[in-house]
Amino acid sequence: MTTRVLFVCLGNICRSPTAEGVFTRIAAGQDIEVDSAGTASWHIGNPPDSRAIAEAARKGYDLSPLRARQVNQNDFNVFDYIIAMDNSNLSNLERLAPKQPRARLALLLDYAPDLPVREVPDPYFEDNFPEVLDMIEQASHGLLREILSE
Ligand code: 4NP
Repeated sequence: MTTRVLFVCLGNICRSPTAEGVFTRIAAGQDIEVDSAGTASWHIGNPPDSRAIAEAARKGYDLSPLRARQVNQNDFNVFDYIIAMDNSNLSNLERLAPKQPRARLALLLDYAPDLPVREVPDPYFEDNFPEVLDMIEQASHGLLREILSE
């Protein structure tokens, strides 16, 4: 059965499209569908931030075809996993969620227990795209292990 994974951040132009690109490649060949969305509406229809595209490209991930969208109620019944980048994303998702969602909500770094932090920092203002990509790669391997062990 297909497992559907949605990555969520604030704008859907930095962290979650990076996670979508990384996880799509890591999960290639598995019966897994991957998407990303933002809790905010500001960037709907826009490609990822040029800094996110450039950093991902250095490691061979092509984020350029992705376009931002906003998370919606339907997502909670379509996806099996909705993975937030930080606690603010997670509390926004919990507020939006229907009573009995299909999706399991989690923080991405739940799947990288060896990292010293629990949230992926927002690179839009901090401009720390290489660090963010490394964290996302590490957690993506953990998430894939979790899905495949189910
Ligand atoms: P993201 O980063 O949530 O990782 O996509 C941000 C993108 C845009 C803004 C904030 C965070 N913004 O304020 O426009």
